[in-house]
Amino acid sequence: MAGHIPKEFIDQLLGRIDIVDVVNKRVPLKKAGREYTACCPFHNEKTPSFTVSPTKQFFHCFGCGAHGSAISFMMEYDHLEYVEAIEALARNLGVEVPREKTMGNQKPRKQLDSSLYGLMEETSKHFSNELNKSQKAIEYIKERDLSPEIIQQYSVGYSTNEWDRLTQLFGKEYGQQKLLACGLQIENDSGRVYDRFRDRLMFPIRDRRGRVIGFGGRVLGDGAPKYLNSPETDIFHKGSELYGLYEARNNTRKLAKFLVVEGYMDVIALAQFGITYAVATMGTATTIEHIGQLYKSGVTQVVFCFDGDRAGEEAAWKALKNALPAVNDDREIRFQFLPEGDDPDTLVRRLGKEGYEAELKKALPFSKFFIRGINEGLGLKAESTLHSIEDSARFATEASRLLDQMPASLLKKSLLQEIQRLGHVTSRPSNTQGFSAEGQQRNFDRPYRKNFGRFAEKTQGAPSQPGDYAVKKTPVRYAITLLLNAPELVSEVGNPEKLLEWDIPGMNLLFKLVETAEENPHIHSAGLMERFRDTEHEKILLKLMKWQPQEADMQVLQQEFQDCFRQIKRQAREKALEKLIHKDQTVGLNSQEQHDLQSLLYDTL
Ligand code: CTP
Ligand code: MN
Repeated sequence: MAGHIPKEFIDQLLGRIDIVDVVNKRVPLKKAGREYTACCPFHNEKTPSFTVSPTKQFFHCFGCGAHGSAISFMMEYDHLEYVEAIEALARNLGVEVPREKTMGNQKPRKQLDSSLYGLMEETSKHFSNELNKSQKAIEYIKERDLSPEIIQQYSVGYSTNEWDRLTQLFGKEYGQQKLLACGLQIENDSGRVYDRFRDRLMFPIRDRRGRVIGFGGRVLGDGAPKYLNSPETDIFHKGSELYGLYEARNNTRKLAKFLVVEGYMDVIALAQFGITYAVATMGTATTIEHIGQLYKSGVTQVVFCFDGDRAGEEAAWKALKNALPAVNDDREIRFQFLPEGDDPDTLVRRLGKEGYEAELKKALPFSKFFIRGINEGLGLKAESTLHSIEDSARFATEASRLLDQMPASLLKKSLLQEIQRLGHVTSRPSNTQGFSAEGQQRNFDRPYRKNFGRFAEKTQGAPSQPGDYAVKKTPVRYAITLLLNAPELVSEVGNPEKLLEWDIPGMNLLFKLVETAEENPHIHSAGLMERFRDTEHEKILLKLMKWQPQEADMQVLQQEFQDCFRQIKRQAREKALEKLIHKDQTVGLNSQEQHDLQSLLYDTL
């Protein structure tokens, strides 16, 4: 069974398509004011009561009550299942639908020839023996200043300068197929088989269980290519393995941190100088699989080390992006950028363990690099600069795209706040310094009353549509309606947790909406609705969504939204007061309750 489609993907999909286009291709639409209309495709009618709202990315038929997002439209019009509808929409955009990894439900892996591991281990031992016999290799080791202990610990070896050394060792009958299968030998076009690694310093690469799965081989001195690596085989996948992981875990009982570097020599030199927690990506980009390997080991701190140049910065940014889904409050991620001309090997030899670890402490925290990286990626200047509205919008879009990939955490919340504090976010007018002051002089003629009245009228009367039912007007419901219509209003909610303290019906749902909108800046109405598909809340939300504030002006909606909260607070206060007074008159109050009563009575609202 394929995994779930990530919610973030559905948000993004709904953000990129336009429901007006989707519908218009199947049912020609006419523009009417802010919306588009047509005769409803879902029931017979002569005058149009089918509307599509480009702002909400929602369709609704006043005749038959059909309504929903572009996904719902595709499901109903093209008779598709939910997943099929998403796939069809994604296909139109030319994007692949990603799937979440399913636990314990993966495809059965190909049966491995366990003797390949045996062969690799034998070969590694053979290379180790050869190292002691080769004067040339010993010279090179000395030149690189590698200690005998470290050579032994990392099983560094040497492959002799022969074309058929491994054939001699394992025999043609027994070994050749397997030597080819694990990449130790190569067969050329004319069918000749020969050893891949010749006259090289050999670094065996182990998996987390310690089995040798591949090799890296360095030329002794100058020469090209500097390194040769095992190819991808049944047992070796370079993109998901980390050199030195097994040794690091073996060195330290309870490993708390990892230093991620690029090269074999870096890992070994760091270990020789006492930094025994380094692992290498072997020159490839840091992948999601690498990150998984790191955290599977139970560490809480990871420092990624990169060159201080442009290429290093780009590689670091890639690593950051791949790490996003793994970031949480228990994990600390930092980025170390090396001085020009240095790599960890040269640096640790110059600074020693203490000096190097002092440098690690100075490494750039995740949050700093996150903000700096977005700015740099967009070609923007320092983070404190107030950008033009366009720049701010680009910044906010990119930031939220990345934040969307992070699971909920305090760090994520702080990043959101930091992004807003920097004055980057222009889509949340109330928080933006750069936002036009023009509208602020306007005298708001209690627009809340105006819209709220209409709301009550529409929802309170007798059912006007099949399947409709009366919805009692309440400020909580109106707040929900407003939030559904304009999710960016969430920035008006100061402290969402406070909402849960107010004991008012509907508060839980309002809180859920606030939370969802907060965690997904730039989610729009249809996206927000999708989050509640097939939940107990779907029905009431659809009902509230159908009602549309008469005023679309953001400033007016803000006023209305704040008004709702004032009312809700008043309502909560009255309810709490009533409860306490009742208790006072019956069983009496304890001192805490007396205190609460006092503060409620004198609370100025
Ligand atoms: N690498 C590779 N193939 C190459 C060059 C590099 O696979 N042709 C990988 C190796 O894993 C290497 C890492 O990229 O360890 C980093 O490369 P580099 O910095 O060039 O080598 P160092 O590890 O610094 O090795 P040395 O100090 O011996 O030059
Ligand atoms: Mn080096």
